[in-house]
Amino acid sequence: MKKHIGVLTSGGDSPGLNAAIRGIGKAAHGFFGMQVIGFRDGFRGLMENRTVPLDETTLSGILTIGGTILGTSRDRPERMPVGGRVLDTTDVIIENYEKNHLDVLVCLGGGGTQKAALKLKEAGLNIITLPKTIDNDVAMTDMTFGFDTALGIATEAVDRLHSTAHSHHRIVVVEIMGHRAGWLTLGAGIAGGADVILIPEIPYDVESVADAIRARMRGGKSFSIVAVAEGALSKKDAAVYHAALNKKENAGAKDEKKKAKAALAELEVHHTGNTMRLARQLEELTHLESRVTILGYVQRGGAPSAIDRLLATRLGTACADLIHQGEYGVMVAARGEGTEPVPLEKTAGKRKAVPPNHPWIQSARHVGTSLGD
Ligand code: F6P
Repeated sequence: MKKHIGVLTSGGDSPGLNAAIRGIGKAAHGFFGMQVIGFRDGFRGLMENRTVPLDETTLSGILTIGGTILGTSRDRPERMPVGGRVLDTTDVIIENYEKNHLDVLVCLGGGGTQKAALKLKEAGLNIITLPKTIDNDVAMTDMTFGFDTALGIATEAVDRLHSTAHSHHRIVVVEIMGHRAGWLTLGAGIAGGADVILIPEIPYDVESVADAIRARMRGGKSFSIVAVAEGALSKKDAAVYHAALNKKENAGAKDEKKKAKAALAELEVHHTGNTMRLARQLEELTHLESRVTILGYVQRGGAPSAIDRLLATRLGTACADLIHQGEYGVMVAARGEGTEPVPLEKTAGKRKAVPPNHPWIQSARHVGTSLGD
């Protein structure tokens, strides 16, 4: 019997999504003769049963294109905004899975998608996921696709900021994405030769950052590049944030949980101004003029790098192999040269942060980069 596969992309878009869709589709349809359809706009499209065939025509010419031909959203089955209310739509999703005679649903996404996928697995569906995000923070995979492209874009930005910082004798504070993980900032900071790298995993002390810049000035360098992750926090802010997070996680009663959640959200809003605040503080402490560059969505846009095309194709074709073998309930992880199916329970809800003793951290310190601690 011909197998039926559904594919969706969920969460923030990322370079390499189309290469992965093509990898799954060409292997499943072209090689194994299965039938493949896509759902538009993530879980929302599955809930609304908006489908598109994934065949020779739709899969052709998409390898090098950024974004996702299917469209995406951050909506989750169990928390779907519908008509001004937030509903658990798991039942409708199961209905549509059955209506399309699916043997398996493939979900391409980051941490949030892994969690949603596990819930659908627990609800009885056959699910496979692929790890995608520019943040590289999905647990149990060597790497996520999208990361390499974003790393290249952020590194080029750090390179370009050097010449203007140098010419104007300024501090340039460059904010790099990554949510609550520092992979992108650490990687681009090292590859671009930033003088200071600030990541969420290592709370910083602004005095220590200023010291590093002053030491450069004494050495005749009247400019500095500070690469700061969007989730980086000062030691004081980190202590307050982690206390609030703990409170939320340990809250018992529904009301208490709601309050703790609101307090955390308020803190997060306050943190959005951190990079501007940091630049101002550094200007005051060092008397060097400072400027801010926020790279933002440029890091997610455009064509995937060769590494991401290769990784997404490897994961996509390995996914079709697993479907052929009837192995479900797993994420297809990148492991060395190959791939490995990892049970969803082992990856969902487990974010991969930069370990404090990671070799990249040691390398950064050894070339004299300040990590602000
Ligand atoms: O997860 C990818 C990412 O780009 C993060 O780096 C960033 O924090 C987040 O998405 C932004 O989310 P949104 O696209 O919802 O603004």
